[in-house]
Amino acid sequence: MSGYTPELKELIKRVEATRPQRVERARRGEHFPPLSMEQRMEWLKRYHPDYKEEGRKEVRVGPNKGDVLPEEIVNVLESRSRIEPERIDLGRADLETDILIIGGGGAGTAAALMADNMGRKVILATKLRHGDSNTIMAEGGIQAATQEGDSPYYHYLDVMGGGHFTNKPELVAALVNDAPLIIDWLEDMGVMFNKYPDGRLMTRHGGGTCRRRMHSAGDMTGAEIMRVLRDEARNRENIKVMEFSPAVELLLDRKGRCRGAILFNLETKEYYTVKARAVILATGGFGRLHIQGFPTTNHYGATADGLVLAYRAGVRTCFLEATQYHPTGAVYPEQNVGLLITEKVRGLGAQLLNVDGEEFCFPLEPRDVESACIIRECLEVGKGIMTPTGRIGVWLDSPMIDLLHGEGTVKKELPAKYIQFKRYGIDISKEPMLVYPTLHYQNGGIEINEFGETSLPGLYAAGEVTGGVHGKNRLMGNSLLDVLVFGRRTGMKASEYVGRVKDEGELTLEHVERFHEELKAAGINEAPVAPILLPDYTPDHVRARQFR
Ligand code: FUM
Repeated sequence: MSGYTPELKELIKRVEATRPQRVERARRGEHFPPLSMEQRMEWLKRYHPDYKEEGRKEVRVGPNKGDVLPEEIVNVLESRSRIEPERIDLGRADLETDILIIGGGGAGTAAALMADNMGRKVILATKLRHGDSNTIMAEGGIQAATQEGDSPYYHYLDVMGGGHFTNKPELVAALVNDAPLIIDWLEDMGVMFNKYPDGRLMTRHGGGTCRRRMHSAGDMTGAEIMRVLRDEARNRENIKVMEFSPAVELLLDRKGRCRGAILFNLETKEYYTVKARAVILATGGFGRLHIQGFPTTNHYGATADGLVLAYRAGVRTCFLEATQYHPTGAVYPEQNVGLLITEKVRGLGAQLLNVDGEEFCFPLEPRDVESACIIRECLEVGKGIMTPTGRIGVWLDSPMIDLLHGEGTVKKELPAKYIQFKRYGIDISKEPMLVYPTLHYQNGGIEINEFGETSLPGLYAAGEVTGGVHGKNRLMGNSLLDVLVFGRRTGMKASEYVGRVKDEGELTLEHVERFHEELKAAGINEAPVAPILLPDYTPDHVRARQFR
């Protein structure tokens, strides 16, 4: 394949010209100074997409009525059901179980394992295949204070600082206190983290961390974790997995408790009623809503389904005004656009550079600040690099990694990235990458407490579908941690609840009918249908032909 164009190769010479000096400085431990707290806030307000006035609107119905959120999110919250509630026969259930888990990524699978440990029968229903999720795509690592000189206390401070102290403290405390146990649990099940020859866990810095506490498995940490979780779950008799079966509505009973869901079989197009004594929502995030038109790192199924289901059932959301744009998404070659370039690249010493090969920011600021710095350099300072298709970006100087840590480090520490670029004729151990912020994570979501309980009895939620633990901005490596901590906690808490709750009370979809009435009363007559389930990338000109 062709690699960089002659024009871009010419520009790379400027990067190469400044590299020896920059490597020397890095070896001496000198780096571009981080921004002060005041500058961080100023940069965020001026350049981060979350702080733009445009592209937002007020929510007109439901528990968050009056909030101002990105319009793509408001559109799915103010949506109509895929089903006509009055046409669903709730008199008999197609399937029954103790706990219905909706979502087959890290959080859902961790919840299933804990529920099974506690003797509960589980149905895990997932939209695509078991494991297709943002968990499996996570690259750089998982944070936990496992090293001498670190503690959950420092981890707590970093998480709070990264979230601008907006995070819910009790959720952060749960996250950081469970973290070392999560690493042990994963290792016991067979996850292979990178280690030193003497067997000690290898850890690195992520943005906004005061200690090295990022544990990784190359740059495929999520795939390694999901491999092990999935294998474990598939070997448990009491966990029944239903693939290609997204939930389209929650079921309640007349006592106002969550008691199951309506699933849709994507292959046969049939609806199934699943009756359960508790439900855990673990449906992941909303990257495929492409907020403000940004490309995304997210998997194909990330369409905010869980938010929609819970919202219609009256559960509040929080922090949905804050979207995470990962600072380094690929902008070249075109086939890689939007894909994640893990923060581990910067953790290993690669610097961000402008068109003149100059550093313009500290490479390990918290993510929102780092993204604001890149946007500023490109759109205000005017020192971005234009790709042949008209995208703009900055250089991420990955060849520094081998110079700092020894020949072969890129291939060893970043094997997936190496292959991903080599396929298009770019050797990232010798040539830099072109990057720009990409939509990566849903910072906010369903309100929960530290056990993953929602305000709806019998409904639990874990992982990216929830909000509060990261406040307005998540730090790297706390997402893999979040899914496992709260996946496990919900699995245990729901199991306890199931032991107490009586299986009585007629099932109902009246909450959906009430929501439809509310839409009508607010004058929303053309509401879109959601959950979206699968994003539609049909180009407009093709759509126009289809409907001619
Ligand atoms: O940069 C990364 O590898 C992403 C990690 C994360 O979002 O936690």
